[in-house]
Amino acid sequence: MERDRWATKIGLILALAGNAVGLGNFLRFPVQAAGNGGGAFMIPYFISLLLLGIPLMWTELSMGRFGGQYGHGTMPGIFTLLWRHPAAKYLGVIGLFLPITVFIYYVCVESWTLGFSFFSLAGKYRGAVTQESMGAFLHGYQGIEHNAYFAGRGWMYGFFVVTCLVNYLVLRKGISGGIERLANIGMPLLIVMAIVLVVRVLTLGTPDPAYPDRSVSNGLGFIWNPNLAMLRSPRVWLAAAGQIFFTLSVAFGAVQAYASYLRRDDDVALSGIATASTNEFCEVICGGSIAIPIACAFFGIAATQAIAQGGPFNLGFQTMPIVFQHLPAGNVFGAMWFGLLFIAGITSSVALTLPAISFFIDELGWTRKRAVNVISLFTFGAANLVVFFLAHGFMDELDFWAGTFGVVLLGLIEIVVFFWIFGSNRAWEEITRGAHIKVPRAYRFIMKYVTPLFLVTILAAWIKTDIRRVFTMEGASPESRPYMWGARILMLGIITGFTALVAVAARRGSFAKKRENL
Ligand code: PHE
Repeated sequence: MERDRWATKIGLILALAGNAVGLGNFLRFPVQAAGNGGGAFMIPYFISLLLLGIPLMWTELSMGRFGGQYGHGTMPGIFTLLWRHPAAKYLGVIGLFLPITVFIYYVCVESWTLGFSFFSLAGKYRGAVTQESMGAFLHGYQGIEHNAYFAGRGWMYGFFVVTCLVNYLVLRKGISGGIERLANIGMPLLIVMAIVLVVRVLTLGTPDPAYPDRSVSNGLGFIWNPNLAMLRSPRVWLAAAGQIFFTLSVAFGAVQAYASYLRRDDDVALSGIATASTNEFCEVICGGSIAIPIACAFFGIAATQAIAQGGPFNLGFQTMPIVFQHLPAGNVFGAMWFGLLFIAGITSSVALTLPAISFFIDELGWTRKRAVNVISLFTFGAANLVVFFLAHGFMDELDFWAGTFGVVLLGLIEIVVFFWIFGSNRAWEEITRGAHIKVPRAYRFIMKYVTPLFLVTILAAWIKTDIRRVFTMEGASPESRPYMWGARILMLGIITGFTALVAVAARRGSFAKKRENL
């Protein structure tokens, strides 16, 4: 069966940018920056971009394109091509487990953005102008508490179902007809909306003359003035590296799946840089110029920092709606903010499910229809757990193991397999073949030595300082523990399930057969 292909070069770039630009850019980035010292964060952040993000982006694009030539779009098949060891395919299970696990909670947050853009337009939160009242609105919506705004989870569940359905419909249409078309429409729209919001924020000045230090420029100063003392804290380095992985979508197995629909001599070098640049524009320029400066302008730096530390969604879903209510045409800006988040979310969430779908198609010979149906049903069921157990740390547990620990691990494995096992000559040949730019030679050295060393250091520091504490759920409330264990059991189930499926595929000869052509 002929593999699906991207229809146009620009479509591919937009799809890759859509994959990378997501909730991570507009919600996660500002919170990470504000919580880790503002400007100080940007130093390890840019170092991680250059030494981890870009190398892994190139590695994954070329791995994926390589795999695609032999009919493999996912890590079990790709690792088998790169490393002729029977364990290689099982190592690849990580690249199926990570994206699907992140999808399970990502889609929930994505559905809130749809709900909140509707509420902005409809004026449903009008009048909730304090952190307390807007917090009550958010928690009422999430079903964490019943209050005057929401008596139950009905609204949330409705938007959740719609969001899952939209994801399903896009995926059913396939690569060029679904994902690429969505990106062709969504990405330009997203960039325009982001720029409009940035201009609105930058022209705010000092909204309340009674507080001259509460201004947009102080907010920008907070992001950009580096506090060098923070650089001594390993936590800041971990947070920066983690943000780079998350925002660029690297070390999940998702970029490979996209790249597997390329042709053998298509460029990956320039596409990688274009994707990373678009993502960084949307993250640092847009993501950094909206939520933090606006919150600083209305609440001051100290309060903004406290809000960001209060919870990952407080800035986006609680503070922003309050601020918009102070602006003329605030409901339109509110709808634009949440609409932007929804577009950013959906063009990323389809990328999170694609690896699992491609696995069923490539390795088990399923039709797209069947693969999309089964995966969508499974993720819908699992996401229900997040919806109902939100208050009990279910989401955070998935986020930690998959979104933080797992990605560093997979990033390390990938770069070692590509540059050390497959070999740096062949790896470099893959990266530079068909390249529309000259890849700086220094990157050959960086990718072979610096990137893996950097990752080993991060992982070792983490294991040393954190793993025991995290594993034993130190500090978690006794009520939350059973739910956190539930999340762990779900993750183990996903890993076991994919391991079994890889074994089935191996027995059918899916990995061996195609490798002979190599
Ligand atoms: N990069 C996306 C974001 O910033 C998240 C994502 C990770 C999407 C991995 C796809 C794969 O939100």
